[in-house]
Amino acid sequence: MPVYTLPDLPYDYAALAPVISPEIIELHHDKHHAAYVKGANDTLEQLAEARDKETWGAINGLEKSLAFHLSGHILHSIYWRNMSGDGGGEPLEKDGVGELADAVAESFGSFARFKAQLSKAAATTQGSGWGVLAYEPLSGRLIVEQVYDHQGNVGQGATPILVFDAWEHAFYLQYRNQKVDFIEAMWQVVNWQDVAARYTAARSRADVLLLAP
Ligand SMILES: [Fe+2]
Repeated sequence: MPVYTLPDLPYDYAALAPVISPEIIELHHDKHHAAYVKGANDTLEQLAEARDKETWGAINGLEKSLAFHLSGHILHSIYWRNMSGDGGGEPLEKDGVGELADAVAESFGSFARFKAQLSKAAATTQGSGWGVLAYEPLSGRLIVEQVYDHQGNVGQGATPILVFDAWEHAFYLQYRNQKVDFIEAMWQVVNWQDVAARYTAARSRADVLLLAP
């Protein structure tokens, strides 16, 4: 049995149109995400074989491959659930996501400033990457991270709660080279209930880093 499996989409391929076309969603989930799942499982097998045979010549590549594919699998799994055809707007108390709204305001000054930072971080990735809103457990605050590939440039221990895929495969068929337009459109499909649930779950964990003074 493989360790990791591709999760089903929580909606059909057309659910996010016109912001994201059905063709992109199908390829992105069924081909790209599936490849990360396979890559993570294959790498675990290769690492098990290396341990069995005590052959460590490929250890650097295998550890990098595990970080890449596992992070790709995790980020895409969050990405699908972060979006909804009924999403958009901003988190508001009346929608039951007041704690998230307060945390955004406290951590970034205002929703508008947060939106500007995450939009800019996602749209200016060099090569392939993500813009990520993460809960940072040491400070108990939210931070924006600009992730390289799927796994680089992240703060250890932070939990991603809202992720914007800025790889070309996420938008090129529809938006061509207009990454800024794609990122701006993404805000129309953000599922704030999902983001708020992730925020609550991340916060409710005790001192996972065991670093409290
Ligand atoms: Fe992707």
